[in-house]
Amino acid sequence: MFHVIATDSLCRRFQVGDTIVRALDDVSLTVTQGDFVAVMGPSGSGKSTLMNILGCLDRADDGSYRLLDQSVASMDDVSLSSLRNRYIGFVFQGFHLLPRLTALENVLLPLRFAKDARTGQVQRASDLMGRLGLGDRMHHRPNQLSGGQRQRAAIARALVMEPPLLLADEPTGNLDSRTSGEIMDLFVELNDEGQTILVVTHEDEIAMKSHRVILMRDGRIERESSRRERVLPEAMHAN
Ligand SMILES: Nc1ncnc2c1ncn2[C@@H]1O[C@H](COP(=O)(O)OP(=O)(O)OP(=O)(O)O)[C@@H](O)[C@H]1O
Ligand SMILES: [Mg+2]
Repeated sequence: MFHVIATDSLCRRFQVGDTIVRALDDVSLTVTQGDFVAVMGPSGSGKSTLMNILGCLDRADDGSYRLLDQSVASMDDVSLSSLRNRYIGFVFQGFHLLPRLTALENVLLPLRFAKDARTGQVQRASDLMGRLGLGDRMHHRPNQLSGGQRQRAAIARALVMEPPLLLADEPTGNLDSRTSGEIMDLFVELNDEGQTILVVTHEDEIAMKSHRVILMRDGRIERESSRRERVLPEAMHAN
């Protein structure tokens, strides 16, 4: 099967004063096309550190990472940004929209960055926004949008390049439960259409809808279960 992600023994250490924090310790993980993976685990267990490395926002100190069969470790920063632009959509808990730009301008950013010469950029971005329920909010600035609408705009921005991989780090962390449910349903729908998704979450409801749940602890993958096994709740939360 085609691996979108293949990591072998990833390690990431941070030095804080005299101590070395092993934020990631020997993490080996493969993700195949069409997978829907939920990453869970207590605070400080290394979930964001892992996502940042998978999203090419950070680099591992040791171990290897192949993204779509290309080795990431040997790439310089310029190649890495272009890889990120083309292959990865990243959704953050805090949306990370540029405040001075409208929702549409935010969604257009990755296309502009890619110097995507194809015509119809605006059409493509607005179609996507329409699909995500933002049809009448395209010219609003982020502070004129609700939390759910901001996250939808951020998701549209993440998807506008049609990347093979969508990463989301606690995408519903700042949203109320109804809005979280809507964003969750959107992820399920995208995955049904074939989108490969990794999502960090503390919410069982998201995890339940994924295919695989990876539980992290102290920088390691402590265990993994697949939906078919129907193992989930309490065991995954034992803090
Ligand atoms: N830039 C950094 N400098 C020093 N230590 C860091 C840095 N980033 C992360 N850490 C440490 O690495 C460990 C893993 O952090 P990480 O942010 O990956 O956890 P997390 O699982 O995402 O937690 P949360 O659920 O709270 O978001 C923590 O002990 C954290 O303090
Ligand atoms: Mg985190």
